[in-house]
Amino acid sequence: MSTTKPVRKAVIPVAGLGTRFLPVTKAMPKEMLPVVDKPAIQYVVEEAVSVGLSDILMITGRNKRALEDHFDRVPSLEATLEEKGDEKKLAAIQESSNLGDIHYVRQGDPNGLGHAVLCAERHVGDEPFAVLLGDDLIDERDELLGEMIRVQQATGGSVVALMEVPAEAISAYGCADVTPVEGESYVQVHGLVEKPAPEDAPSNLAIIGRYVLHPAVFEVLKETGPGRGGEIQLTDALQTLAKREGEGGGVYGVVFRGRRYDTGDKLSYLKAVVTLACGREEFGDDLRSWLRDFVADGAGVPASAGA
Ligand code: G1P
Repeated sequence: MSTTKPVRKAVIPVAGLGTRFLPVTKAMPKEMLPVVDKPAIQYVVEEAVSVGLSDILMITGRNKRALEDHFDRVPSLEATLEEKGDEKKLAAIQESSNLGDIHYVRQGDPNGLGHAVLCAERHVGDEPFAVLLGDDLIDERDELLGEMIRVQQATGGSVVALMEVPAEAISAYGCADVTPVEGESYVQVHGLVEKPAPEDAPSNLAIIGRYVLHPAVFEVLKETGPGRGGEIQLTDALQTLAKREGEGGGVYGVVFRGRRYDTGDKLSYLKAVVTLACGREEFGDDLRSWLRDFVADGAGVPASAGA
């Protein structure tokens, strides 16, 4: 059996149109929506870098220029802040341009998450790699990706992040059929279904947007036909790998029990922003006390609304 190559690269698909956030995403990528004072995408890049994945490939599309600008340097702004001696703001803008080695490839004609991952083939080559989806933010205090990398290295297969969700919510996710692996903290994945109806779901374990994949997934994706929504689904390719034995086969799951923030739709995005803002040292206490008063005063509901 060949030795497992180390995981060095992260792939972040960002070509989605962001239609759930219209009209704000008409001229701005959804990944640039602010979560407190940083765009959502920066949290994801920081997560990858924090586990040593400083080679990052973004799969982009039209309308995504702002993302490239955000991770680039702005010498004129740096000079202005330097002149003013504003070290704090200078550090804040330099942070995002010093994060890692960020590359971009265009998806062209977006045809699903599986298609986006396939666009990474040339950059990734023949080594295992991570995929991070921007709608899911993982609290930096809770470990997930590092553990997934360890499981990939130990098993030589592919690894998905799983989280228990209420039964009725499973139809928004890929769903995994799993069994425990004796003596290990991870589970073996036997089957995967993309966005099943609750009555067809094999479990309440949802795939959240973190994967560490064996490069065998590329060949499988090329053979994977359109699935749910007429798109090439990563979940379907992983279903094939879950059934495969030998080199590149096998899918495992790490069940995450930490804090995850979903920025994928307007309501959950608002909850994520408030939750993360409440944790900020500089204004968390003030915000919490304001929220308590706001709720006690009826939380902005017009007096006539409940009558
Ligand atoms: C994608 C995947 C799905 C996964 C989800 C996690 O769906 O296809 O399997 O559960 O991400 O966020 P999307 O949310 O892009 O429709």
